[in-house]
Amino acid sequence: MCGIIGIKSCVDISTKIIEKLKILEYRGYDSAGVSYLKDKLYCKKSVGKVDKLAKKIDCHFDIGIAHTRWATHGKPTLHNCHPFLSSDKNVAIVHNGIISNYIQIKNELSNKNVVFDSETDSEVIAKLFDNKTLTIDSIRKVCQKLNGSYAIVGLTATGILFGAKKGSPLYFAQNKDEFLIASDIACFEDADSFFTLQDGEYVIVDKKVQFFDDEKIIEKISTQLDFDKYKYAKTHENFMIQEILQTPTLVKRYLLNQQKLNINKYKNVYLFGCGSAYHCAKIGEHYLRQLNKNCKAIVASEIGEEKCDFDNALCIFLSQSGETIDTLNALSLCKGKATTVALINNEFSTLARECDIIVPINAQKEFSVASTKAVTMMIVAMLCWIKEQSYNDYKKVFNINENVLKELANKLYNNESLFFVGKGIDHIINCEGALKVKEIAYINANAYLSGELKHGPLALIDEKAYVIVSCSQKRFVDKTKSTICEIKARGGKIVLFTPFLSLIEALDNEDYSVLLPNITSELVPISALYSYQLLSYYICKNRGLNPDFPRNLAKSVTVE
Ligand code: G6P
Repeated sequence: MCGIIGIKSCVDISTKIIEKLKILEYRGYDSAGVSYLKDKLYCKKSVGKVDKLAKKIDCHFDIGIAHTRWATHGKPTLHNCHPFLSSDKNVAIVHNGIISNYIQIKNELSNKNVVFDSETDSEVIAKLFDNKTLTIDSIRKVCQKLNGSYAIVGLTATGILFGAKKGSPLYFAQNKDEFLIASDIACFEDADSFFTLQDGEYVIVDKKVQFFDDEKIIEKISTQLDFDKYKYAKTHENFMIQEILQTPTLVKRYLLNQQKLNINKYKNVYLFGCGSAYHCAKIGEHYLRQLNKNCKAIVASEIGEEKCDFDNALCIFLSQSGETIDTLNALSLCKGKATTVALINNEFSTLARECDIIVPINAQKEFSVASTKAVTMMIVAMLCWIKEQSYNDYKKVFNINENVLKELANKLYNNESLFFVGKGIDHIINCEGALKVKEIAYINANAYLSGELKHGPLALIDEKAYVIVSCSQKRFVDKTKSTICEIKARGGKIVLFTPFLSLIEALDNEDYSVLLPNITSELVPISALYSYQLLSYYICKNRGLNPDFPRNLAKSVTVE
């Protein structure tokens, strides 16, 4: 979480740095700040999104650093905004990560009469810079005192730009006479050369550019990047709807170039992920079990509570960003014991670098905090491991009547809670549907197994309740009929998602239905998922909310 950037140029960058910061806004948007050099270092800060900060910038400058924050330590207030200045005001820094020993450092510095202005962990980094002149040794000395994770971009009153990395992502790029350090490749669209910083590496841009590790100066080779792949213009009102609607094209493209994975070689298969990526892992578990595998999906942060059998094991890590800290922690516990696979959307991520095998889902950048196209693409990629997928089978998957979903959203948006009910794979898709509604529409949406309804959740059903029931598998039709009866007997209204007309015909006038396409049973859940993504989007819009930036959340969760 948190996006950081630094630019050193010979022309005015006051507009550019703000534009780039906006690209990083998906990483957090509680507050934003910039520090730039004129006759001395200046800081401008504001609570809220980058647009508010932009209004405060009233001068030109050619060197600066900037930050967009997802608050962890200290509330999203003005005094907790980055950048932070050293006590002598000669160094400004922005930080992404968590400094786990910040209280100890703060106490030590406070005893030396250093004054702190914020409650953040990050400010200790700035206050540790106490040398008059900045050298690689003084940066190393500061970093060696830090425990936890960091990507740091700093700027000195003498015009030196520098970066340091451990744990959190940081990249460097050069474009003619301009130098950029940032959290995301998406900031570098036209760069001539591009470098990924590894943990323990530093970059200093002074009269020339130099890279260092913890001991010496190092040579780094520039990576060739197809920046077109990372360019991403907004073509719709919101990124979320743009990204949902891109899915059919992405699927078509992926199926032309399917990446196989020989699951059969392994005795045990584990899938790890967080949030939506965990739901994908559950779906993967469901499908891969068809190959008679010992297969288990695990919430990445819960790996410590699980007993994994690493004998001839394959560990698959699902993450669109490839930077989710809990997923990376799970990877570090599996590395060396099992073959590791990254199922990812970011080939330049830590996960991609650290895993034995990379399976990119090629979904292009996903900006909206709530994951949509990346979720669908992960599922499609895993289906390709079971058997070759034919685009013919997928042609109807996304044939959903959007107007029906819009009307439905009109009915549902005022509810304080929403129930999702289903069995087997439908339950997993429902969990993802409920998560989407929760995160962008702030409705208390929960998914229940239909068989579990009468063991508790039915007590919540009354005349006000809308229950989304899904049935994608023919073998569930009879059970679904009983579930519908149970709900209706308590006054609840049904919103049915199914391809089975016999189920829809059994509904009353007060109920609603969305007809899913008549396609192979393994693909109907993808249609349901796509419908839920659209439905949650329209519910969110009806509630007057911005789907791209849900409150309290961030896209890239780089803290535990
Ligand atoms: C955050 C995002 C979710 C995402 C999850 C895992 O919570 O808001 O959309 O599913 O992180 O992210 P990852 O990058 O690992 O897929």
